[in-house]
Amino acid sequence: MTETLARNRAETPERTVSKRSVLMCRPDYFTVSYQINPWMHPENPTDTSLAVTQWNELYRTYLELGFDVQLVDPIDGLPDMVYAANGGFVLDNIAYGANFTYPERQPEGPAYMDWFRANGYDVRVPKEVNEGEGDFLLVGDTILAGTGFRTDRASHREVAEIFGRDVISLELVNPSFYHVDTAIAVLDPAPAPGEAANIAYLPSAFNDAGLSVLRERYPDAIIVTEEDASVLGLNSYSDGYNVVIASRAKDFERQLREHGYNPIGVDLSELLLGGGGVKCCTLELRR
Ligand code: ARG
Repeated sequence: MTETLARNRAETPERTVSKRSVLMCRPDYFTVSYQINPWMHPENPTDTSLAVTQWNELYRTYLELGFDVQLVDPIDGLPDMVYAANGGFVLDNIAYGANFTYPERQPEGPAYMDWFRANGYDVRVPKEVNEGEGDFLLVGDTILAGTGFRTDRASHREVAEIFGRDVISLELVNPSFYHVDTAIAVLDPAPAPGEAANIAYLPSAFNDAGLSVLRERYPDAIIVTEEDASVLGLNSYSDGYNVVIASRAKDFERQLREHGYNPIGVDLSELLLGGGGVKCCTLELRR
């Protein structure tokens, strides 16, 4: 017993924490008034003040973790603007703007680009349809790019040209996991030199080609249960040690702990009614 414990401890790697800078948008105008994903049911009521209370808990959690949290003003009539991850993809001080699939969200693209411009980022107006960091995840030096429901494959090429990084296209096959950030969690956003960045994912969200890429590149990935994925447990945000997750994703929480991470549960049940969770409310800013 003692030996097993000692061995486990020795096998648990030290985690590298890095200070994060993120952009968020208060859900003052959040509601579900249209349906563009299977989670949304406009016929059911939503509670905007509860959404704000829950969002505040996430905001406070980030501040307590020492993150730099920037805020963009919410706009009346854009209920999904709270899902800041879709507002663009920011890396090397370049902000690649979003170009939304559905007309309901299209005005958010310019609104986020205005914020990036006003805050000193080199803004690139997108030619292709894409929903920002919802479908572009930086893992080490590689960008994992989702397609299938929202972001067009042509934008993967646009991103590769702009940022000069390897972009790996992954096709999503389950409409409930319509953005890649609902099916993959990046656990190590800034791995130390020589260290590999790890991820967690839901295998059934990908086609066979995507799945074999993920298996080959991330042999040590955490595989989450369908149950945890169905509360958007993967839609989480990590600083390399602290991983902010949906409080209902219990098995993911256990697995993270076993792998040496510190899971922190937050309840965003009201924002789940719009089909988003922790990561959707968080856009990473990389200068
Ligand atoms: N209602 C929003 C939509 O369907 C939710 C966006 C969730 N964002 C995300 N990064 N997965 O577009």
